Amino acid sequence: MSCNRLKGKKLIICYAIFTAVVLINSPSPLSATVTGVCSNCHTMHNSQNGSQVARSGTGVGWDGSSVLTGGSLSGPLNQLLVTNCVGCHTSTTNFTIINFGGSKIPIVFNTEGYPSDALAGGNFYWVSQRTVDLKYNAYGHNVYGIAGSDTLTQAPGKLPGCGTSGSCHMTLAAAPSTSGLWNNYNRGGCQGCHVYTSHHKDRGWYRFLKGHDGLNKDFSSGDDSDYVIGKGDTDWEKTKSSADHNWYKGTNTQYVSNGSALKTYQTITSFCAGCHSRFHNTLDIARGGGPNYASPWLRHPTDILLYNKGGEYTAYDTVNAYSTEAPVAWTNPDSPSKETAVVMCLSCHRPHGSDQPDMLRWDYATMIVGDDTKSGGCFTCHTSKNDAL
Ligand code: HEC
Ligand code: HEC
Ligand code: HEC
Ligand code: HEC
Ligand code: HEC
Ligand code: HEC
Repeated sequence: MSCNRLKGKKLIICYAIFTAVVLINSPSPLSATVTGVCSNCHTMHNSQNGSQVARSGTGVGWDGSSVLTGGSLSGPLNQLLVTNCVGCHTSTTNFTIINFGGSKIPIVFNTEGYPSDALAGGNFYWVSQRTVDLKYNAYGHNVYGIAGSDTLTQAPGKLPGCGTSGSCHMTLAAAPSTSGLWNNYNRGGCQGCHVYTSHHKDRGWYRFLKGHDGLNKDFSSGDDSDYVIGKGDTDWEKTKSSADHNWYKGTNTQYVSNGSALKTYQTITSFCAGCHSRFHNTLDIARGGGPNYASPWLRHPTDILLYNKGGEYTAYDTVNAYSTEAPVAWTNPDSPSKETAVVMCLSCHRPHGSDQPDMLRWDYATMIVGDDTKSGGCFTCHTSKNDAL
């Protein structure tokens, strides 16, 4: 398309069309809203030919014909939905996106096995296998509807006094309150992290990751500032490369307190630190922080820049050779640069679960110092630690 030979008003219109076409063609973040026919997800009376439609209980998921199977037929559900969070985001196949009737459903739990193209958050398959071997408790967050309680009785790194029995700081295996989708005290299950969802309207919350500051039902009043900022990949990293991925927000400012960090910095790390506070360095030494906020560190640092540390860290080209295995965040995800790349919790962990203990993104047992046949994982940033001895 060329506007070269046009003049005046025509030229302006031509450029406007040209720019619009370029914008549509260039990768833009997915607007986090559902698509497709209403009946894919809703049932008006929970009745079809006289039988119930909604499904709940364990084992609900989409089969190979995109039909909801498993669990049992149930009474009507909130918001006339055909199933609950776990059911709609589960599949009995190995597909990680279910495409039908104009809808695209991201799958976080494949009941048949850990999928080879698990989405960015990982997959809950292995933690569901805790019934086979208790060691699998460590392969994911134990979430209501997928895995019963962990042997851990609270979130490691939790602040004392933060959360009582049944709260999401102690367990995510408890049933969410039945009083509705909003502002539950017992935020068990998926809602422990995705406290508020907004499937029909994109509110800018990265992957519905918002803290639990209250909002009323139609979101018309209340506090909406405690959410994570980021740009989501259109297929949730089902396909991924150094140019095709999510963009996370980080910061290089030391938190003053974890309590207000999510509001203040809106980073993915401040979100995890909401329950695992002590694993992020704050100003408070008792909480695992340090007076220097610099090497020597007391716990692996997060929400710090890596390039400015010099040495081995400068060899990770976070912009042109971004690793989806050991990703970084940026102080401004809209204009990423090596100088503004930040270490985050998701540099090493998958938030849902993985095929490794501690929900790690790679096999920690293969990280052998001085072995130059090893790469990736920790060596993505610690680029000289695999140099042959
Ligand atoms: C792909 C799944 C899906 C499709 C298709 C879908 N919805 Fe929804 N809808 C949901 C989910 C999930 C919720 C739960 C609440 C939330 O997160 O906002 C919801 C909530 C709602 C709500 C209450 C909350 C709100 O945002 O107002 C209404 C009303 C609604 N849907 C109407 C519709 C109508 C009308 C259609 C068809 C034009 C439709 N939906 C299609 C998944 C879907
Ligand atoms: C411990 C917190 C936590 C819990 C519990 C949790 N999620 Fe997530 N979820 C996240 C985070 C963080 C992301 C963003 C992952 C990324 O972009 O790297 C995410 C992403 C997602 C996505 C987008 C796909 C992807 O993998 O990026 C879906 C869908 C989703 N979650 C659904 C669920 C459902 C359904 C449940 C309950 C079965 C659940 N989540 C439980 C934290 C959580
Ligand atoms: C009936 C089906 C259905 C139900 C029930 C449902 N979801 Fe979803 N959800 C979807 C679909 C479809 C999408 C993908 C929307 C899109 O294309 O961006 C989605 C997207 C998401 C995402 C990713 C948002 C993003 O930015 O890409 C999260 C997180 C999520 N859902 C969590 C939940 C939680 C938590 C619940 C329960 C409170 C829930 N869902 C209930 C169908 C459902
Ligand atoms: C709403 C509270 C909550 C949030 C937010 C949260 N977690 Fe957790 N996390 C827990 C609880 C409770 C446990 C212990 C029980 C379990 O594993 O489910 C846990 C356990 C873990 C474990 C150890 C798993 C095991 O069983 O050994 C890791 C690793 C972890 N979380 C990482 C993260 C990361 C990374 C994030 C941010 C994406 C995060 N968590 C956000 C509550 C939370
Ligand atoms: C540099 C990689 C890395 C980063 C960054 C990282 N972790 Fe970890 N995490 C690990 C490894 C490795 C383990 C295994 C145990 C160990 O070595 O301490 C672990 C273990 C855990 C555990 C389980 C502890 C237990 O008692 O079972 C939790 C919870 C956890 N991490 C949460 C987080 C949170 C929250 C953040 C961000 C504030 C984070 N991690 C950042 C690598 C990392
Ligand atoms: C995303 C990049 C990244 C990844 C992945 C990563 N690290 Fe780090 N690590 C850093 C940065 C940056 C520092 C801070 C260095 C400094 O302040 O001089 C650091 C600090 C450390 C320190 C403390 C050094 C000190 O001076 O106190 C150790 C030990 C460490 N990392 C080990 C690991 C191990 C083991 C893994 C894999 C489980 C890992 N790191 C993965 C970036 C990373």
